[in-house]
Amino acid sequence: MCGIVGYIGTKKASTILINGLMRLEYRGYDSAGICTIENDNLKVMKDKGRVKNLYNLDGINSLTGTIGIAHTRWATHGKPSKENSHPHLDNSNNFAVVHNGIIENYNELRNFLIEKGYNFKSETDTEVIPNLIHYYYTKDTNNSNNKVLQAVSNACKDLKGSFAIEVISKYIPNNMIVCRKDSPLVIGKGDNENYISSDIPAILSFTNKFYLLNDNELVLLSTNNVTFYDSDLNVINKELQNIEWNATAAEKNGFDDFMLKEIYEQPNAIRETIGSRLPKNSLCDFDDLSFSKDFLSRFNKLYIVACGTAMHAGLVARNIFEKICCIPTEVDIASEFRYKNPLIDDKTLCIYISQSGETADTIAALKLAKQKGSTTLAISNVIGSSITREADYSIYTHAGPEIAVASTKAYTSQVVLLAILAIYFAEKLEKTDSETLIKLKNDILELPSKVDETLKCADYIKEYAKTIYTEKDIFFLGRGIDYTTALEASLKLKEISYIHSEAYAAGELKHGPIALIENGITVIGILTDENLVEKSVSNIQEVITRGAKTLIISNQHLTTNNFDKVISVPYTNPLLSPIIAIVPLQLLSYYISKEKGLDVDKPRNLAKSVTVE
Ligand code: F6R
Repeated sequence: MCGIVGYIGTKKASTILINGLMRLEYRGYDSAGICTIENDNLKVMKDKGRVKNLYNLDGINSLTGTIGIAHTRWATHGKPSKENSHPHLDNSNNFAVVHNGIIENYNELRNFLIEKGYNFKSETDTEVIPNLIHYYYTKDTNNSNNKVLQAVSNACKDLKGSFAIEVISKYIPNNMIVCRKDSPLVIGKGDNENYISSDIPAILSFTNKFYLLNDNELVLLSTNNVTFYDSDLNVINKELQNIEWNATAAEKNGFDDFMLKEIYEQPNAIRETIGSRLPKNSLCDFDDLSFSKDFLSRFNKLYIVACGTAMHAGLVARNIFEKICCIPTEVDIASEFRYKNPLIDDKTLCIYISQSGETADTIAALKLAKQKGSTTLAISNVIGSSITREADYSIYTHAGPEIAVASTKAYTSQVVLLAILAIYFAEKLEKTDSETLIKLKNDILELPSKVDETLKCADYIKEYAKTIYTEKDIFFLGRGIDYTTALEASLKLKEISYIHSEAYAAGELKHGPIALIENGITVIGILTDENLVEKSVSNIQEVITRGAKTLIISNQHLTTNNFDKVISVPYTNPLLSPIIAIVPLQLLSYYISKEKGLDVDKPRNLAKSVTVE
């Protein structure tokens, strides 16, 4: 998830662009760059590092152009480096492009362009775009004014995946072209000037009049004009909208807190995690891995190691790996694993999960596995993070920056990525019939819309939170896969609401913890596994008998009707149900914390990245 800004008007563009990028830094901050039109030529300035470093680049103050594009990067394809920073130019230096999103078929396009004689300077997916525009521009012999627009439109039709792009060109030095598909982009209208941005906050201090773009729309901008086109370049009309946000609220896109924003970002984060890894009608594909059947057959054990929420993602994944890959899988807390002389060797594949990629215990646990001769695979959300530099292999969730301390979208994306990894292994190892795997893949592809559907329970949860926010203890119960959701829900509640909470495997209750159940206590049951639902219902009856008030999260038809509240969530493959079932419980923690007037995004005693032991 990167940030883009653009300006076309009468003022010095560079200052406006850098200012806008600073406000978008929360979307990514490993490198930044701008390109302005200087005396009809394109001038690019970019480098690795934070946006403020742009001020130190030689010559930045001498840029006087009044048209420019800019980008702050959250690396997806290629490490953070000057070469991989945006803007990217085509081979002839006539087109400059910044891009937010992921071009899923970039390898195919890159090979096509290489065959046509183009060469590439970066490892990014983006660099195919300016070259593709150049390819279509030179192919088109019609010398119309709209030749660049036509070339951009043709190029966009070839792109698969998500993109918001800005294009400037020497051939149209008084214009800019922008377009989007599945990636945000807005246009802010000023007097004799227009602003472009990935989201409203970056330009809200300049204007509150906005055009909001829909997928596959193209826009040709000049200082005084904004013309909108559909994908076939028919002109379309668009209403200007007044946005009445204050700048701080706007950074959160209108959400009160980053945590709520990130909860709502989950459908898209999951989409980005899936990316091009689940192609229709062919095997799972990981750009960054090419494991053979022989290589994977070496391993007689998987060991998943992580901390906190990331470890809970590992617990969910254990079920999937064992079920479809038939490999014994252990899960451990990194701070335990690193000191216990784990039974691992060169036949163990150790998988380390870390959103930040900087968690000290997880990194130490990974180093230990390497010393013991195991193969290591890191799963992180941050390109180039320490864990990915240490591991033998790395793959990324691409969930976009997670700012709230309590992890939400990183968790669901981790589970999705691990599920895809398990399918990848199972396909290579031929341990499960292809029909089952195809079904599971389709179930994963349906997750974004099912999470979207689940989010509709937010108002109900908000009201429910008002009735329980003063509780001192809350219990979460589940069996099998639902127990993993109970653990994650309980952690979420503790960390942002400061309410004491416990998660138990429902069948374990009568072996001790049931002594804590007293009149009026809240017990939350998670019931998504059709094979275990009746068993769990019986356990919940045991707490109801002892006076507990119950909330049930379920995707099953429940015949019992003495629960106090039931939230029905969409049905999915039981292996994936934690991705859906956790959503109402993330919202519940959030709304309880709000009711208590706490700082949801920065809970006491916690930090986003735990770089100490
Ligand atoms: C809980 C939470 C933490 C992290 C844990 C690991 O909401 O965010 O439990 O999951 O500190 O962090 P990463 O994934 O960065 O290694």
